[in-house]
Amino acid sequence: MIRCKGKIYKLDTPNTTLLIGLNEKSAEYLYYGKRLSVGGDYEIFRSLREYENVQLKLVSSFGEGESHRSGVACQFSDGSYTTRFVFTRAKITEKPDLAPLPSSYACAGEKKSSKTLCLEFVDEPTKVKLFLYYTVFEDSDVIAVSSRLYNGGKKDVHVKNLPSLQLEVWGGGFEFTTFRGEWANERNKISTPVTGGAVLVNESRIGSSSHAANPFVMLQKAGSVYAFNLVYSGNHKESAEKIITGKTRVMVGMNDFMFDKKLGYGESFCSPEAVMCYAPSVDAASLAMQRFVGKHIIREKWQEKERPILINNWEATYFDFNREKILQIADTAAELGVEMFVLDDGWFGHRDEDNSSLGDWFDYEKKTGGIAALAESVRERGLKFGIWVEPEMISEDSELYRKHPEYAMKIPGREPFRIRNQLMLNLADSNVQKYLVRVISAVIAETKAAYVKWDFNRTMTDCFSKEFFGGEYFHEYVKGLYTVMSKLTERFPSVLFEGCAAGGGRFDLGVLCYMPQIWASDNTDARCRVNIQRGTSYGYPASAISCHVSASPNHQTGNAAALETRFNVSACGGFGYEMDLSKLSETERETVKAQIEFFKKYRKTFQFGDLYRLGNLGEDPNAELGGFMYVNASKTQAVATVILENFKVSRKRFAIAFKGLDAATMYEVSYRKQSNYADEPQKFTVSGETLINGEIPVDLLGDVAPERMANGMFTRCLIFKKAVQRAKKN
Ligand code: DGJ
Repeated sequence: MIRCKGKIYKLDTPNTTLLIGLNEKSAEYLYYGKRLSVGGDYEIFRSLREYENVQLKLVSSFGEGESHRSGVACQFSDGSYTTRFVFTRAKITEKPDLAPLPSSYACAGEKKSSKTLCLEFVDEPTKVKLFLYYTVFEDSDVIAVSSRLYNGGKKDVHVKNLPSLQLEVWGGGFEFTTFRGEWANERNKISTPVTGGAVLVNESRIGSSSHAANPFVMLQKAGSVYAFNLVYSGNHKESAEKIITGKTRVMVGMNDFMFDKKLGYGESFCSPEAVMCYAPSVDAASLAMQRFVGKHIIREKWQEKERPILINNWEATYFDFNREKILQIADTAAELGVEMFVLDDGWFGHRDEDNSSLGDWFDYEKKTGGIAALAESVRERGLKFGIWVEPEMISEDSELYRKHPEYAMKIPGREPFRIRNQLMLNLADSNVQKYLVRVISAVIAETKAAYVKWDFNRTMTDCFSKEFFGGEYFHEYVKGLYTVMSKLTERFPSVLFEGCAAGGGRFDLGVLCYMPQIWASDNTDARCRVNIQRGTSYGYPASAISCHVSASPNHQTGNAAALETRFNVSACGGFGYEMDLSKLSETERETVKAQIEFFKKYRKTFQFGDLYRLGNLGEDPNAELGGFMYVNASKTQAVATVILENFKVSRKRFAIAFKGLDAATMYEVSYRKQSNYADEPQKFTVSGETLINGEIPVDLLGDVAPERMANGMFTRCLIFKKAVQRAKKN
C-alpha cells in the first residue's frame, strides 16, 4: 500500500513502513523500519533530520561535494562528470517492465494490489533525467527498487554507473553480512563491522554472479536487519559505508567495473531490479526474503509444484557410461521410488572428456545407443527423463567451432584464455542467441525431456564484440542470456529447468526468474553441505536449493558419512541421488527406499516450508549443534534435521531451540526411523513454546554413541505434528 500525506509518501508492507519525504528540490528517506500506524505524525521525522542536518539520500552523484563513494555517474561530451539531480515530481505508476532483464512480479490475481512509486529527478544543465521506482506487494515485506536514466539533452551521455538502489539509514554500528566462497565452498556467511573510513564492497567482475560473492547481503545490528538482493546474473556490486555525518549508506546494483553505456537523445538505460527488506531479526529478514523469492521471483507455475526426486548420473559415472550402464542405474532407481533420471554431461558430440564437443548438441550414439531411444527406455521404466546441457559454451574441438568460429568469445589477434578447455559463446550476438534457442529446443523436443540442467562452467574473459566494449559487453551478454532463457522457458513451459554453474556459481534471483531451482554446489559432502546450504538459506527458499545424496567416501573431500546422515542433510528442496544406485547392498537399497518414502510423505514441507537454521554449526567453529527446520505455512507440520558434530564426549542430554513453531500449539514429536539406529527414542508431546525455548525435557536423540556416527557427525530427523491437545493457557 502506498499513501501520500502532505509531502510524505508512506510505503507500507505487512510489517514495515518506508517513508520518503519530498522537499522542494530533493527527496529523502525519513524512516525505514517497523510498520507505522496510519495517520501518524510523520513530519516529526523530517524535523528531526533537519535538526540533525542530515538527509538520508535516495541518490548520490559526483557533483554534490561529498567525500563518500557516490552512486550515479555520467560522463558528458565536454568531458565533465558532474551531475546534481534535482527532484521534480512523484507519481504512482505501473511497475516498470525491465525486459529483457527479468524482475519480480505479482501473480495474476494480485497485480492490482502491487503499487509502484516513481520519483523523477533532473540534472538541469544536461537534461538527463533519473527515475527511481519503488514497488510494494501486498503480501510481502520486500520492496523492489530499480532506476532509469533518460537522456533528454541533445548530446550523447555516457552512463558510467547506475546503482539500482541506494538506501541510507540513520546511525552506525552495523555489520555488513556477505555470503562469500569459491568453487565447492559457496556462500560462507561473513559479517564485517561497517566502520568509518572504509567502504565494504561485495562484488563480482567475472561475468556471472559468482561462487565468490553472492549478491544477497545484509546490513545488521541488534534489532535492525536490512537485507538486499539483485535480480541479476552478471557482474554486481553491493557496498556499505559509514558516513561521518552519522548515517550508513548501502548501494546495490550491477557492477560499474569498466562500464560505459552511451545514450543518445531520447534513449534510456534501466538498471536491474534490486530488492530490500527491513526486519527486526536475521531470521525474520531471511524468512521475508525466502517467501518473496517463492512468491514473486519463482514463476507462478512452479511456486507450489512438487519437484521430482531424481537420480543424476554425474558422480556415478562421470563421462564413462553407455546405454546399459544408464539403464542399470535407472532400473534400480525406479525400484527404489526415484521419479526422474537425469543424464548429465557426456551424451553429445564425441564427448569422452571435458575437452571436446560443447556446442554439438546432438547425440553421441556410440555411447547412448540413440538419445531419443534412451530417453524412451528410461520413461518405460516409469521415470521421467532429464538432460544436462551447457549452452553458453563452445569447444574448439567441435563441429560448431569448425563451422562458426566467429560464435566464440575471442579477441582478434589474441590467444583466448581457456578454462576447463572451453571457450564461451558470444551471447551478445543475436545470431548466437537464435542458434541456441534452436538447438536447445531440438534437444528438448527430441528427448521429450521433463527437466533440463543448464550448466555454466567457466568465468568470462576475452569479452569482445564489435558493438559493445568493456563493462557494457558483460551486460549485453547477460541480456542475451536472458533472451535465450526466456524464449526457451516460454516455449517449454512444463519443462523444469535447473540452474547450475560449476555448482553454485550463479545462484541468483535472475536465474530463479526462469529456473525455479539451482544446484547449490559441486561439493556433495554432508559436512560441507551443512555450511553451504545454511549460507544459501539466508536469502533463498528451500525449493530453490538442489541437494543430492552422493557416495561415501565423498568424491570431493574423501570424508565418509553414513547413508542416513547424507540423506538427513540433503533432504531439502530439489532433492535427489547422485551415485551408482545399482551398486548398493541390499541393506542400503532398503535404506534408500525408506528415505524416498519419507521424503515423499513430507515433500511439501521440505520444499515449500519456511526454512530455519538451527544452532550455529557451520558458522561458529566451536559450535557442536546445528541443523535445518522446515515448517509448513499453517505451522501444523514441521521436519527438522538436527546435527551434532565436533563434540568432545558422548552426550545424552542437550538443549536445542527449534524454530518457526506456534508457541501455543501442542506438538507430537517423533523420529524418522533410521537404519543406523535400531532403538527408536520414544515419541513425545510438548508445547511449541517448550520446543522454541530449547528446554526439551527428554533425551532428545537417544544415545549419541560413537558407532552411530560417521566421521564424528551424528544426525537425526524429527517430525513435528500438531497434536489434538491444546497447550495450557496461563
Ligand atoms: C559441473 C556441475 O556442477 C556438475 O554437477 C556436473 O554437471 C558437471 N559440471 C558436468 O560437467
